[in-house]
Amino acid sequence: MNGRVFGRSKTMEDFPTEDEGVFYSKAEHYWKEVPPTVDGMLGGYGSISSIDISGSKKFLQKFLGEGKGKTRPGCALDCGAGIGRITKRLLLPLFRTVDLVDVTHEFLEKARSYLGEEGKRVENYFCCGLQDFQPQPERYDIIWIQWVIGHLTDDHLVEFLRRCRGALRPEGLIVIKDNVAYEGVVPDEVDSSVCRDLQILHRLVARAGLVIVHEEQQQNFPEEIYQVHTLALR
Ligand SMILES: C[S@@+](CC[C@H](N)C(=O)[O-])C[C@H]1O[C@@H](n2cnc3c(N)ncnc32)[C@H](O)[C@@H]1O
Repeated sequence: MNGRVFGRSKTMEDFPTEDEGVFYSKAEHYWKEVPPTVDGMLGGYGSISSIDISGSKKFLQKFLGEGKGKTRPGCALDCGAGIGRITKRLLLPLFRTVDLVDVTHEFLEKARSYLGEEGKRVENYFCCGLQDFQPQPERYDIIWIQWVIGHLTDDHLVEFLRRCRGALRPEGLIVIKDNVAYEGVVPDEVDSSVCRDLQILHRLVARAGLVIVHEEQQQNFPEEIYQVHTLALR
């Protein structure tokens, strides 16, 4: 998700054949070296954070409110939360409590100060890879997964989404917001991630037993970066 990942890739290759353990440990090493700042979270594109958050807020507000089928403003889970950029500006303003999960301990430590006074409403900081994370069943109204799915193998992503499904409260929602490749799977050797095209992502979501209830492309991002899509799943 560094500068290079945000840039358009010229090649389309299959998922890396290297050992799964290496895929994950390379990513962990990569993120340990990244400064715990908004710019660090966005690979040098910190300036797009406000556009991103406004787009997410508009997207999420379609589902929130009172009445049948509406998602309640109870408990949110921020997956691959980093320093809590999304928790601070999107989730804490809209939900009573938030949990964060990220593999990088230093980012979660930074989140404790970065989130300020409102951070008191964070109930849990889980330091864990999403491939191993077991969310508590029926705990969350929203599970927000942004700019991190490329760090999971296909099978781990499907299994993680299945666990997320079990972790939703009634009328709860899973949201994936991420880069999409033009075609196929584009590996990034620098941060040890992949970028999948939309068709592949749709297939993985279906394998997890989830249905796409709404999908949008984020507008007004710089031309040179990947397209970013937001998917609401149940
Ligand atoms: C591009 S940053 C995005 C951070 C945040 N979602 C945001 O949009 O501001 C990717 C984050 O994913 C985390 N990460 C990488 N691999 C992970 C994994 N396997 N499980 C959980 N978090 C992971 C990194 O530590 C980093 O905080």
